[in-house]
Amino acid sequence: MILDEDMAQLVVAEATNDAHAQPLTRAGTNSVLGDEMSSVESDDEMAPATLLKASWDSNASCWTEVIRAGGIASRQLVTDRAIVDTVQTLSPRSMLDVGCGEGWLCRALTDQVPRIFGIDGSEELVAQARQLGGGEFAHLSYAEMRGSVVLANERFDVIVANFALLDDDLPGFLEAMRGMVNDGGALVIQTLHPSAVPPPYRSEWRIEDFAAFDGQADWKPMPWYFRTLGDWIGGLQPHWHLRGLIEPLHPETERPASLILVAEPI
Ligand SMILES: C[S@@+](CC[C@H](N)C(=O)[O-])C[C@H]1O[C@@H](n2cnc3c(N)ncnc32)[C@H](O)[C@@H]1O
Repeated sequence: MILDEDMAQLVVAEATNDAHAQPLTRAGTNSVLGDEMSSVESDDEMAPATLLKASWDSNASCWTEVIRAGGIASRQLVTDRAIVDTVQTLSPRSMLDVGCGEGWLCRALTDQVPRIFGIDGSEELVAQARQLGGGEFAHLSYAEMRGSVVLANERFDVIVANFALLDDDLPGFLEAMRGMVNDGGALVIQTLHPSAVPPPYRSEWRIEDFAAFDGQADWKPMPWYFRTLGDWIGGLQPHWHLRGLIEPLHPETERPASLILVAEPI
């Protein structure tokens, strides 16, 4: 996933110096998820999505450091280029980067896309993005976007989510995004390739514990919602039609480094 695999797999990959040789262990293990989630929910009554947000609030500066240092091998080798190329192919005049993090994708496309907007639920990540520029940025959750004054009546040619759809509310997100895309526009989602995640192969919450970064910083574990390929594709309806599905290959392992879905509004 990373998380969107990205996260999970990428983080593990970085630690092993092999971007795709190893799937998640702790992050993908049900027992860990089950243990952590049940204890947290019963003790603190916090939903996974709440913990997810808290993890990004807490991990923001570590994440910024890792991304800006090029610290995730599969991003450097494959997935960054893949998402940039996919968006460029669509020749958008405007782009909304949802879950933009510290803003690297906006910066990468700022010379090609005249109007770029990034939103993220982490205030610190938005501040980091603003610092380096490349677009306009707002501190908003996906749930807040539609009603937000900042984005009122805004529509975009391309909406992109790069390893940023981490919770279980895909239907709510897709419905909201349908109202924010221009006719003829597209939604581009890069996510963890479902084949990279250890069994069981079913959509469910898991935990990324960032164990691969042990010793580098104090990472807060992050719940993330694993989705099967069928649930990704089936989830697009009724608002989106799948226009393309890309599986960028890792040059060394020759396994898919990610899954990119390109959807058009119905
Ligand atoms: C793995 S990071 C990816 C960041 C960026 N897209 C990139 O490629 O580096 C996931 C990002 O999604 C954001 N995010 C996750 N769920 C969110 C939500 N419901 N609302 C707003 N932001 C969210 C997190 O704050 C985090 O910055």
